[in-house]
Amino acid sequence: MCGIVGYTGPKQADNILIEGLEILEYRGYDSAGVAIIAGQDLKIVKKVGKVSELIAEMTQVDTSGNCGISHTRWATHGKPSDANSHPHTGVHDQFAVVHNGIIENYQELKSELLANGNVFSSETDTEVIAHLIEQAYDGDLFTAVREVVRKLEGAYALAVICTNEPDRIIAVRKETPLLIGLGDGEKILASDPSAIVKYTKKFWRLENGEMAIITPDTAEAFRIIDGVSIQKEVQEIDWNIEQAQHSGFDHYMRKEIAEQPEVIENSMRGRLKSDGQVVLPELSSVAEVLRKAQRFHLIACGTSYHAGLVGKYLLEQIVRVPVEADVASEYRYRNPLIGQEDVVVVISQSGETADTLAVVRLAKSKGVPVIGIVNVVNSSIAAECDAVVYLQAGPEIGVASTKAYVSQIVVLTLFTLYLQHLRGTESVDTARITRDLRKLSAYVASLILDDEKFEQVAMAIKDHENCFFIGRLVDYAVSMEGALKLKEISYIHAEAKAAGELKHGSLALIQEGTPVIALATQSSVREKMYSNIMEVKARGGEMIILTNHPEEFRNLSDTVITLPDVSPFLSPVLSVIPLQLLAYHAAVLRGNNPDRPRNLAKSVTVE
Ligand code: M6R
Repeated sequence: MCGIVGYTGPKQADNILIEGLEILEYRGYDSAGVAIIAGQDLKIVKKVGKVSELIAEMTQVDTSGNCGISHTRWATHGKPSDANSHPHTGVHDQFAVVHNGIIENYQELKSELLANGNVFSSETDTEVIAHLIEQAYDGDLFTAVREVVRKLEGAYALAVICTNEPDRIIAVRKETPLLIGLGDGEKILASDPSAIVKYTKKFWRLENGEMAIITPDTAEAFRIIDGVSIQKEVQEIDWNIEQAQHSGFDHYMRKEIAEQPEVIENSMRGRLKSDGQVVLPELSSVAEVLRKAQRFHLIACGTSYHAGLVGKYLLEQIVRVPVEADVASEYRYRNPLIGQEDVVVVISQSGETADTLAVVRLAKSKGVPVIGIVNVVNSSIAAECDAVVYLQAGPEIGVASTKAYVSQIVVLTLFTLYLQHLRGTESVDTARITRDLRKLSAYVASLILDDEKFEQVAMAIKDHENCFFIGRLVDYAVSMEGALKLKEISYIHAEAKAAGELKHGSLALIQEGTPVIALATQSSVREKMYSNIMEVKARGGEMIILTNHPEEFRNLSDTVITLPDVSPFLSPVLSVIPLQLLAYHAAVLRGNNPDRPRNLAKSVTVE
């Protein structure tokens, strides 16, 4: 939701904080701010708008100092404005607080403070924390912060500084992520490792209910509940800063689309043996449970949910086991029927999505095993699952998920093959699947080379306000992803329909020239798709057809995109590539920044 960066050490904090905010801007970009301690003074600069606007503002002010905290915001309480930007202070400018999350009981706490005569300068829940710390402070910032956070309900990652303790930052975590980078003679804290990696690869992650005291030379962790000191395990970031920047491409999204051939290889690395056997040692502790499972529940949000729909198709067809796929925000509240021999599988790129995390906890409270398919190592979801298969896709910065989706499907395919072997199912000959898995990376690379063609299609649709995506079976699942991609970054309204369902209502919206993107990769329903496309054409729809059998569709449209002919189970990895590039170009042609879609944030860590 929001991004936090803090620094204490011998260097000028402002440069490091700004660099970190620029990297974390994908987490929220409606306002940004810094607070830096200089002697007895607290220098605060904050500004509505992007980090670039904060930088411009900072050129007007002396922000030198060696210890500071900063924040890039995605508004929850209080509209984006200078006043609502973080950091927040109490009545006096002695304490500064940055916060990622939501304080659910802030109204109640604020009423008490107002009754005491405190005056507030923002509408945020965070300002309440600053006032409470100011009130609780008796010469020791750690004690004051600990006392205050024990009163807070909700989700929060916090960083707090105080002019009386000029080289110290107090960090706290409940639910939303916070990492402490352990540099030599300097410490840097951040919501995400990409803002730390330039300075150090060593870090630890605060877990739920933990807080830390950081100085240039020390980092100590404690349990909030009783203040007892805890020993943290030092972890290592295994990628470098170049991997977290958009090296040569105009946008992160375009760079991440280009990375997909490599990502596919990485997701399979060490997992697909030369004899076609799949090894997933991370599942060995739950292998028996998986062997006996009566039903799987694939739960996720957004693009990860769309990968889950593909996973449902794979598991049902190949393992012949019943699968339920649902969005986490519905599943968690609908009192789902979960049998004691069922397994819940959650899918998440960030590993921080609040609704998906809630599903992990729901399933665990019912004693049901939970498997995570997650990208970010040691993220909150990963930490709470019984077993995790990581995507190995590297950091995904663009808000529109691309490489994570493709790697989710690759991992779900491996998971399916692993289960088929474990359970001895013999429904489908998997030799073609394992053979084609090895070709996917090269096929994706060749599709990306056709970029110009997809840009032309984008030119043709960019001025439309409505667009349809249709498909059958697994093509319908990919249609949903294509429609989401297009609407989230180009703001063209897009609707995905199961092709056979069009005539039950949506066909009424097809008029002369309405763009309709049809996916036709599934041989078992190819003739049915042909008829559905005819129905659209008869109403004047402008067809764009993606198929592995172009010769059968050429008479229906001038725009037929040829996809490599692979096992029907793997076609989503290929058919989504033109859809990602189409959405990307449509967004750019319409003057949008695809990395910063309006109203959206990369990881949705609140409900
Ligand atoms: O990090 P997660 O995979 O849990 O995120 C889930 C969704 O928020 C995410 O896929 C979202 O839909 C993307 N913006 C889509 O491009």
